[in-house]
Order: sequence, then structure tokens, then C-alpha cells
Amino acid sequence: MTTTLEPGTRPKTTTSSMDDREKLAHLRSQLPAVDQTGYFNAGTNGPLPQCALDAMIDAARRECDAGRIIPGVYEGGWKRNQRIRVLLGDMLGADPSEIALTHSTSEGIGTVLSGIEWQRGDEVVTTTLEHPGLFVPLSQIAHRYGIRLRIIDIGDGGGDVTSTLEAAMSPRTRVVALSHVMWSSGAVAPLRDVAAMARAHHALTLVDAAQAAGQVPIDLHEMGVDAYAIPGQKWLCGPEATGALYVRADRMADIQPTHPRYAQTDGNGYLLPVAGANRFEIGQFFGPAILAQEAALTWLRDEVGLDWAYSRVAALGQRCWEALAAIEGVTMASPKDKIAGLVCFQIPGMAPPDIAAKLYERGETIRYVAYPPGPAVARVSTGWWNSAEEIDRLADGVRAVVADHHRGTAQAIPASGMPA
Ligand SMILES: Cc1ncc(COP(=O)(O)O)c(C=O)c1O
Repeated sequence: MTTTLEPGTRPKTTTSSMDDREKLAHLRSQLPAVDQTGYFNAGTNGPLPQCALDAMIDAARRECDAGRIIPGVYEGGWKRNQRIRVLLGDMLGADPSEIALTHSTSEGIGTVLSGIEWQRGDEVVTTTLEHPGLFVPLSQIAHRYGIRLRIIDIGDGGGDVTSTLEAAMSPRTRVVALSHVMWSSGAVAPLRDVAAMARAHHALTLVDAAQAAGQVPIDLHEMGVDAYAIPGQKWLCGPEATGALYVRADRMADIQPTHPRYAQTDGNGYLLPVAGANRFEIGQFFGPAILAQEAALTWLRDEVGLDWAYSRVAALGQRCWEALAAIEGVTMASPKDKIAGLVCFQIPGMAPPDIAAKLYERGETIRYVAYPPGPAVARVSTGWWNSAEEIDRLADGVRAVVADHHRGTAQAIPASGMPA
């Protein structure tokens, strides 16, 4: 189905007279993927709403039919990109001039790390719970510039993260780099405290917010972080190859644009960085994807309601934690009072990829994560689109997987104790 959709001007279809159950049913009807399996994997990719698909198809069709470069296309693209910066600025508590569009979280992180004028012997403080999207560029700058990485063990992220990181700070620390929501434990980092601590040590705070955007409330000015990289495709339900990087206005000059776009010249070929964070934007964007991102963000803001979404994610996260913790044979790997919608667990003796595969056979889509030095865990993402009944059904599935595993183990090890 294609429509002539103008993102941002869609008539609102949820109403204040709907109760939560009606509203949820209505919204779910616009997320086709959530009826295929129990959809518990926004941590990798969220479900794509119908309006985003329509916007993408519609834009791609227009490009094909009318021609990709016709008068007005460039101007339309600039306006479209600016609309996304405004939407994201509002959503994240930032000024639109502090938002650069990117193609992924990793791109935003790489842009910051490759834009700092490093000196041999500088230090970066980070944690044991980071994703390769942060570890890999950190390793690269360590190797390239002789930077010392201080990878600090913060356990499951549920303790006093700020003090633990502060103990590793030195006069050479240039950057404190960490996730807002830890991908392998679900812990939400105390970013305001971490940013204040880093600032007191004259270090810049770089945040991997791949799991945070759309999962937890964000107010960047209030948190005081310096750089914050988000994806479009996870909890914000946009398409892949979309994302954004926030750079705080007063930190803009501390980061060089490593890949300046050709539009940033004075007409004589001299580099003339644009005033805002869009100086960090790399290459071109795929218009249909950006329009789909705009449609998804607008839908989240106007129809779903961000506060409604955040509070559902957190409440379902708690329900999920409790339901899984009650299963004999399950070990929880998330600090209950520090999480929102990422719930991590283990079944001792069973590899997390097998747990995810067995649950998928039972109609539940979760994910495993395993990247040293972090833990190997099975991970449930509780999206606002999930219902309490779905959480309970998932817990039943986990209980059955545990029982199958124990049955299989008992069969494989006969009474003599020797493996069969
Ligand atoms: C914490 C974290 N950081 C970074 C990434 C990479 O995100 P992207 O694919 O947007 O670069 C992920 C993806 O799973 C993640 O969970």
C-alpha cells in the first residue's frame, strides 16, 4: 500500500478517550511485525511502523517516477534534514543546531573519537560493558595515536559507577566514554553524575546511546554530557542507516570534522565549516530512509506519546525481571532497580545463542549478547508495544526451555556420571 503521506501532518488516530488496552491494540495494528512473534528485540532493531514503510515506499516511488535530481530536490533535502534535527532536538532536550544526522550510532562515536587532536599518552576511561561499536574505535585510536585505554570493571553497572570511574581518572584523561544503557546488563548509567565528574577532571563525556534513545527519557542539556550518539533503527523504530550525533554547543570546536562534506566550502574551495553540528555529517543520506525516520519519530511523538512509551517500557521491564527471576534454573544478569527495558539472564549450562534459538522456535524473538570482557547473556527488550500477557507467555517459554535443557542434560549423563 502506498499513500501520499506528508510526515508530520498525519491526522492523529489515537484519542484521549481510548483506554490503554484500546490504544495499545490500535498502535499494534500499525506494527505488523509484533504479531509474527513475541517481539522482544528493540535492542537490535525495533519493529517498523506502517507509516515509516509507507513514507519510504512513497519517496522511493517518487524518485523513480519523477527523476532523482529535478529542480527543488536539493532544497527539499536540506529542509527535510533540518526537520529531523528539530524533531530530535525536541526529543533529546537539545538545540537542533547541536544535532548532526548520521547513518548509525557507531558513525557518531567514530566521528567524535577521530575528531579529537590526540597526544601520545592521553587516556580514555571506559567500562567493561561496552559494545564493539565503542570498543573498536577506541582500540583503533589507542593503536594509532598511542592512547592508553582504561577499561574499568563496573560489574553489572548497578553499583556506584561514577566513583568507580572517577578512581581511574588522571591528569591525562581526555575522554570518559560509556553507554547510557548497558547493552549486556540493561543498567542505566547515572549520566548526570558521570558528566559532572568528567567535567571536574577537564575530560569530555562521550555517550554510546544506542540502547537509550526511545527506551528512557533523555534531557541532554540537563544531563550535561558533551557528545551523544544514537541510532534510528532500535527503540526509535526507524529504518537502518539512520541515526544522529549530539555535540554540545560549547564542545563543537574541540572536535574536528574528519570527513567534511563538499557543501562546506566558501565557493572558492576553502573549507568553511557550517556553524552547527551538521558540520559533522558525512556523505549523503538516502532520502526515503530519512523520510521514514521522520514518519516514525512523528508517530512516536504524536500517536504513541513518548512519556507513555517510557513508562510502559520500564513497567514491562520490571514485570519481565520478576517473571524470569521466579523460574528455577534461571540466573538474572540485570540489576533490577537500575534497568528500564533490557532484561538479561542466563540458564547455567546453556549457551545464550541456544537460548535465543530455542525461544524463537517457541515464537519468541529475543537476542543474545556476548562480547568480552562483558558477560554472555540472553537479553529481552521489553518494548512499549508488548503486553503483560506477552511477558507472561515469554516467561512460560523460558520455563519450558529450562525444563527441556534439564531433561536433555539428565539423559546425556547416565547414573554412572559418565557422559553418554
Ligand atoms: C550499546 C550499543 N552500541 C552500539 C551499537 C551499534 O549500533 P549501530 O548499528 O547503530 O552502529 C549497538 C547495537 O546493537 C549497541 O547495542
